[in-house]
Amino acid sequence: MLDHIKNIVKEAEKQGYAVGAFNVHGLESILGVAQAAVEAKSPAIIQVSEGAIDYMGLKPVTHLVSTVAKNVATQVPIALHLDHGKKLDYVLGCINAGFSSVHIDASHLPLDENIALTKQVVEIAHNKDVWVQGEVGAIMGGHGDNGGKIEDIPIAELDEVIKFVKETGVDTIAAAVGTAHGVYDNEDILIDLLKSIKTATKIPFVLHGGSGVKVNKIEESIKNGVNIINICSDIKISFTDAVKKYCKDNPKDTDPRHLLGPGIEAVKNKAIEHMKILGSADKVKLANIKT
Ligand code: G3H
Ligand code: ZN
Repeated sequence: MLDHIKNIVKEAEKQGYAVGAFNVHGLESILGVAQAAVEAKSPAIIQVSEGAIDYMGLKPVTHLVSTVAKNVATQVPIALHLDHGKKLDYVLGCINAGFSSVHIDASHLPLDENIALTKQVVEIAHNKDVWVQGEVGAIMGGHGDNGGKIEDIPIAELDEVIKFVKETGVDTIAAAVGTAHGVYDNEDILIDLLKSIKTATKIPFVLHGGSGVKVNKIEESIKNGVNIINICSDIKISFTDAVKKYCKDNPKDTDPRHLLGPGIEAVKNKAIEHMKILGSADKVKLANIKT
C-alpha cells in the first residue's frame, strides 16, 4: 500500500530498525523493490532522482509507484520520495504530484544559502503535509561506480549540522559521515559523529551511500540513530548484471520480457538482502493490516 513516509519512519524508530530507500530507474526496479517488500514482509521507501524523473516523466513515475504499491505491495507500506532534489522546480513538482517526502539537496551551497533554500522548501512542503530531508556536507561519488577506492570523502561539521536542523525545521537529516555514493573499499561510518548528530538533533538520520558499506558498520549505525538507508548502486548493478548476463547467454532472444525479467528478480533479491541487514524484514505484521 502507498503510505506516508512519516508512518514508516516512526514505526522504524519505535522498533529500532532502519528502512531501505531504494532508487528505481524504471518499471522493472519498481516491481523488484515492491516484490521484495512483500516477500520480506518489510516496509520500503521507493525513491527517484531528478534523472529518473527525466527518464520516466514525473506523472508516469508517480502513477507507476502508486499503482504498484497499491496492487503489488497490497499489505506492506511503501512511501514515495524524491532523492537529491537540486532544482527547485523538481522539488515543487514532486510536492504537488503527491510524494510524501522530498530531499532538497543544497549541500553544495554555502551553509547560509543551504539553510535559506531548505527553509523555503520546508514552509511549502509542510503546508501540504510533505516531509523534507535536508543535507549538510555534500556526499560525493557516482551512483553505480563499482570497486576501488575513493579519495577525500568529505565529513560534515557537527555544529553546522546542528545549526542547519535548528534553523530549517527539516524532518530528516542527511550528512556526510564517511560513506560515498557507489561501491568503494574505503567507505566507513564515523559512529561518534553520527551519535553526536542524533543526540543534538533528535530527528531521523538518513544514511546516504548505503551500497558498499560493511555490514557491521551498517548495523552499528542503526543502533546509533540511522532510520533510513539509501541504496542505489547495488540496485543498478544487480539489475544491469542480470540483464547483461541474459543477453550474453541468449543473443538471439528478442523478447524484452525475457531480457528484463532477470533484472526484476535480481533487484528483488538484492533489496531483500538489504532489508534483512537493516532489520526491516519481518516487521510488517500482515494480520494487523486493514485492506
Ligand atoms: O541517494 C542515494 C544514495 O545515497 C545511494 O548511494 O549508490 O552508494 O547506494 P549508493
Ligand atoms: Zn545520496
